[in-house]
Amino acid sequence: MAIDQLPGEDSRPLAPPAPAGETAPRIALSEVVSSLSRALDLTEGQPLGHSVRACVIGMRLGAELGMDDERLAALYYALLLKDAGCSSNASRMAALFGSDDQAIKPQMKVVDWDQKMQLALATWQSSGQSASIFTRMQYFLGIARQEQVTQELIAARCDRGADIARRLGFPNETVGAIHSLDEHWNGNGYPGGKRGDDIPLFSRILNIAQTAEVFLAKGGPDEALKVLRERRGRWFDPALVDLVLGWRRDRSWWSGVVAPDVEAHVLTLEPSVSARDVDDAGLDRVAEAFAEIIDAKSPFTYAHSSNVAMYACAIGEQVGFDAASMRRTRRAGLLHDIGKVGVSNRILDKNGPLDDAERAAVQAHPIYTWEILGRVPAFASFARQAATHHEKLDGSGYPWKLRGDELDAPARALVVADIYEALTANRPYRAGMPVDKALAILDQERGAKLDGSMVDALAASVQREVEGRGGVVEGEKAAGRVDRGTGAPWSIRGDDLQHVPHPHTLTPS
Ligand SMILES: [Fe+2]
Ligand SMILES: [Fe+2]
Repeated sequence: MAIDQLPGEDSRPLAPPAPAGETAPRIALSEVVSSLSRALDLTEGQPLGHSVRACVIGMRLGAELGMDDERLAALYYALLLKDAGCSSNASRMAALFGSDDQAIKPQMKVVDWDQKMQLALATWQSSGQSASIFTRMQYFLGIARQEQVTQELIAARCDRGADIARRLGFPNETVGAIHSLDEHWNGNGYPGGKRGDDIPLFSRILNIAQTAEVFLAKGGPDEALKVLRERRGRWFDPALVDLVLGWRRDRSWWSGVVAPDVEAHVLTLEPSVSARDVDDAGLDRVAEAFAEIIDAKSPFTYAHSSNVAMYACAIGEQVGFDAASMRRTRRAGLLHDIGKVGVSNRILDKNGPLDDAERAAVQAHPIYTWEILGRVPAFASFARQAATHHEKLDGSGYPWKLRGDELDAPARALVVADIYEALTANRPYRAGMPVDKALAILDQERGAKLDGSMVDALAASVQREVEGRGGVVEGEKAAGRVDRGTGAPWSIRGDDLQHVPHPHTLTPS
């Protein structure tokens, strides 16, 4: 990914804060969702713009089928959000294959599942990448022994994706389309093994659109059409494939699908009569939905984003942020780690220290956050705050090594909230740190690395919550979060290393 603009002094300035209570300008939902779909592309290991290009392909099918505007609108969001559940199986895929999920997902995407030899070869090539032959064989045999594994992986992704679409308020046809995305015409698909017309029409369109896009990106229109022809009647509805084959000579249209301005083009495809605007409450819902997508990426970061948002707002309330700043801070907290979907779970979930390359991969995630959020006009006012959540006052943070005078109060609050959440969160492999110990660690960093007023604000907020609960800290909920630490000895995983200020705090307490 080309990262050509960093959120330093010389790049995109912070948007001026809107006065509290100001009416938000009209924001098109299509603009927000299509921009955030880039995060889904990253998770799937697909070239950026995959979802948008698939949307262009699928919408042409919908139009040629004569769908009315209401159905076209439902199809439009199904195409953009088809991979909303993709982060939920990334961790298991990485563990199962012993490889980078972002490397193997696209490899498995081009395999024709009906061709058993091809499937076995692709599975072998994806198993234990970079490992010894013996280890690779162990992974390969492990996968082969688990008959239900493909069904389970796809079911997890479909269930989660459909659930997110439902909670965003999209119609049942959109939800159902995402749920049956990977069903095949001949009944060999997943998760339900549905066959022919039993597969929702929208799902049949989504499957053709996503496959055509993958091979279009790989080898151009001829390659895409060849694969559709080969899988006609097996993977795909023959009538729909015939429609796409009819576009063979429409070279200018195919060129438009891969053109740099396709992201502007896709905005014109939402039927204007049913085009949806989004208000502040709607934007919050979108941010909450994508926070779930982010946190689903790793089982070790359950509820991290929502907890960070809550702590950052607790700090903001304590130091007197105005209403507009509070709203931006909450959204920044929810989305600060959206770039993490671009990091392999082999690294995020690694049980032990990271090597230099792995550490560099982890430390790139704020850049992805900036790259994704900075493109969404509705999110531009907090994209910088979100992306700078690992920076420190003395310039020792990452990735931009900004200094204190480049970090405003909301950014400083988010930095403190992120570390506190990481320290105190219970994780499957260790208990969270007790509140008082976590606060003591933050206190050690005050002045040099962390803004002392933000640390004090967090401590005051936590203290107030604790007093409200009768003074119990350990093993008790504090500041409203889901889990609390118990102070048991703890070990580290790759994902911890980006948060914890001093390596010596990682030794058993
Ligand atoms: Fe982060
Ligand atoms: Fe974080």
